[in-house]
Amino acid sequence: MAFTKVCSLSDVWQGEMEAFEVDGTEILLVHTMGGEVHAVQSICPHQEVDLVEGELEGNELTCCMHLWQFDVVSGKGVNPTHAELAKYPVKIEGEDVLVDVAGIEVKFAHA
Ligand code: FES
Repeated sequence: MAFTKVCSLSDVWQGEMEAFEVDGTEILLVHTMGGEVHAVQSICPHQEVDLVEGELEGNELTCCMHLWQFDVVSGKGVNPTHAELAKYPVKIEGEDVLVDVAGIEVKFAHA
């Protein structure tokens, strides 16, 4: 697989996030207030709740269920720090947002 067009930049405004399916993989696309676009796994590593239902504040995404927090830029857990989100490479071509999901596994942290 390679980079696949997911949407246009204007489909996800700055400060917002949206879930998409790319080549059979559910991803969450996050457009930060700084104008960067990041793609992470769509489900929480804790109990697989949809992260799109969470809150985005700056670069920090908080799961709606038990309030675990993640940095969408690094994918690292902010609280707890042992959890982590899978990150997918993103490419912007003009107005198009492309993501490559090949070979990247969703991460879990059930403790
Ligand atoms: Fe996301 Fe528990 S399911 S923090």
